[in-house]
Amino acid sequence: MSPFLLLKNVNKIFPIHRNLFSFFSKSNHIRKVIDNVSLEVGAGEVMVLAGESGSGKTTLAKLIMGSLTPDSGTIYFEGNDVQVLKKKKKFYSLIQMIHQDPYSSLNPHLKVKDIVMEPLKIHDRGSSSKEEKIEQVRIALRRTKLEPVDEFLDKYPTMLSGGQRQRVSIARAIVKIPKLIIADEPVSMLDISVRAEILSLLNDLRKSLNISIIYITHDLATSRFIGDKIGIMFAGNIVEYGDIDEVLHNPLHPYTWMLLDAVTFASTESKFYKTFSGSNTSAAALPLKGCKFYNRCKLSFADCTQDIQQFNINKKHAVSCFYYKNVVTNLN
Ligand SMILES: Nc1ncnc2c1ncn2[C@@H]1O[C@H](COP(=O)(O)OP(=O)(O)O)[C@@H](O)[C@H]1O
Ligand SMILES: [Mg+2]
Repeated sequence: MSPFLLLKNVNKIFPIHRNLFSFFSKSNHIRKVIDNVSLEVGAGEVMVLAGESGSGKTTLAKLIMGSLTPDSGTIYFEGNDVQVLKKKKKFYSLIQMIHQDPYSSLNPHLKVKDIVMEPLKIHDRGSSSKEEKIEQVRIALRRTKLEPVDEFLDKYPTMLSGGQRQRVSIARAIVKIPKLIIADEPVSMLDISVRAEILSLLNDLRKSLNISIIYITHDLATSRFIGDKIGIMFAGNIVEYGDIDEVLHNPLHPYTWMLLDAVTFASTESKFYKTFSGSNTSAAALPLKGCKFYNRCKLSFADCTQDIQQFNINKKHAVSCFYYKNVVTNLN
């Protein structure tokens, strides 16, 4: 049986217009924003994509949703190429997105009931009556704990708190039960006090409705609540990948160490990595060949300028770092 979601060597290139001169010159710079990404998500599984701003997380989400086209590589959704599937309208009801900002992602002029009903209006236009649609909206609001439901139906987004607005986004995403939800930093703009509630709501929903989730975050601390698997992204590469407990308990890539340090998972060993410099994946600062983390890594050595390879530490854990080449060779 084919996996639920499979990405095979996916690449996406964007042009960079550095200045007016390079804009008009033919030799416009290009940048691989997604660089040879392969990963697999099972049905009902939660895959965390973690990495700093600019690492390509949102671009990868757009590729999976079919709103961007890969320059090479293929994305398979239940065994079928997304580029083919997206020609059918039905595909768009199978994947739903929850955005970071619950203030700008909801139309302020629509009532909660109309916002949540939107996917039904698009996809079930003729197949169900207005009353049936309202009933589905009620069920979705109940599932997202916006109760008593009657109090929320006629409210406008401006009358709701950030956490309630994000629940409305979730209700809209599940009203026509999708197979996959891509949640792009869904709690990063919310008060810390409500973040855990929203994450546990997403977790409950995926269990009760068997929805897979891709949970995008730059914060590893919250990812443990929800993830089964994790992919650590750096400059368009997945540098470390595997079972979330395995990766977070035994992080191998120096960049993963750095991310963990940033969220105070710090152990004494990780202090070794504290002197990494720089914090932004700016295109100019990246090495042109080999491991893109090379310039920032204390462990780098001659091999790191070669084309990057992925080493499978075990069945549940892979890392793209030459430092582990010998470790893996010794294991085999
Ligand atoms: N449409 C676009 N055209 C050109 N560059 C883009 C476009 N969208 C994103 N980028 C660039 O791609 C890189 C990755 O962006 P993004 O996927 O939004 O990262 P993240 O979500 O991890 O912050 C960034 O350097 C961003 O500037
Ligand atoms: Mg983003």
